[in-house]
Amino acid sequence: MDQLTQLRSQFNAELLEIKSPSEIQLLDTKYLGRNGLINTVLQHIKEVPADQKKEYGTNLNELKQEIIRSISEKKTFLLQSAETKQQIDVTLPGTSYPKGSLHLITIAIDEITSIFEKIGFIRVSYPEVEYEFFSFESLNMPKTHAARDDFETSFIEAPVHPKWGKMLLTPHTSSGQVREMWRVKTPPVRMINISKTYRPNWDATHTPMFFQFEGLCLDNGINITHLKGTLDYFVKSYFGEDIRARLRPHHFQFTEPSFEVDVTCTVCKGTSINNGQKCKICKSGWLELGGTGMVHPNVLKSGNIDPKIYTGWAFGFGIERVIMMKFGIDDIRNYYSGDIRFLEQF
Ligand code: DAH
Repeated sequence: MDQLTQLRSQFNAELLEIKSPSEIQLLDTKYLGRNGLINTVLQHIKEVPADQKKEYGTNLNELKQEIIRSISEKKTFLLQSAETKQQIDVTLPGTSYPKGSLHLITIAIDEITSIFEKIGFIRVSYPEVEYEFFSFESLNMPKTHAARDDFETSFIEAPVHPKWGKMLLTPHTSSGQVREMWRVKTPPVRMINISKTYRPNWDATHTPMFFQFEGLCLDNGINITHLKGTLDYFVKSYFGEDIRARLRPHHFQFTEPSFEVDVTCTVCKGTSINNGQKCKICKSGWLELGGTGMVHPNVLKSGNIDPKIYTGWAFGFGIERVIMMKFGIDDIRNYYSGDIRFLEQF
């Protein structure tokens, strides 16, 4: 048997034994690699008598082409049968898909809801498309009152309601206060109203659509100490044990007295010093959270509740803002950018 015939039958025998894509790769290198058998045989062409060189060369080339074709066919065959096996082998583990996660606003809403539910508050969600009456008049903000300008409200082109006025996108969740008083009729009222709100602002700390959560607590003998205790409980539960709330006098039409709530800065922990320098986030050890106060008697009257019998407090805070304070996020536009790299961190 001449050398080429011997090589051909050796190859065919070895090819028959091949069972996997990795084995065929080894066979490929063994025959066709730089130091493979074909090249080694080619080196020996020197020893072939001159008159047989041409024929030998042609035969060797034929054998090489044959090997290339056989290897390629076998590779395709092995890959296909590996795939088919996977499709029908029901015992193989399934392919796991990347897991999604809840949006950070949804996570915060769930967390805030459960903090307030633990102390007997009921979660509600009042209309974001509202009437002037609920967003303003019922809250002691008559038609011409300048304080309405603070909210820069977006109105809806719709027929004006004879009783409730123009339709609008509510600029705050306080619009749920009187609706809740009407629903419950007689105190106690313990409401946590979480909903979308709208104001035409767009910068690092404002988006035109944002979320607020509004607390309302009405009963016999409710006073500021209950408010302060509830705020302390909330900020400890949401931000951490070492965080406190403080009240700073302010003005809102719908509360008297009114306050702004500050919380211990979550970055410098109230020391106003961060890394040996004045804390850049708060400068004072405190961060502003939002507005609160004792519900104004006129608001109770709008809700058909007698201010001589019942008192209570309310607050309204921004959800984007509390998340920002908790995690030290400096641009809330990220929340709504849909950038998965930002969102999947929460
Ligand atoms: N509605 C106010 C705002 O969006 C926040 C607010 C202040 C809500 C005082 C209240 C409150 O319930 O008592 O700016």
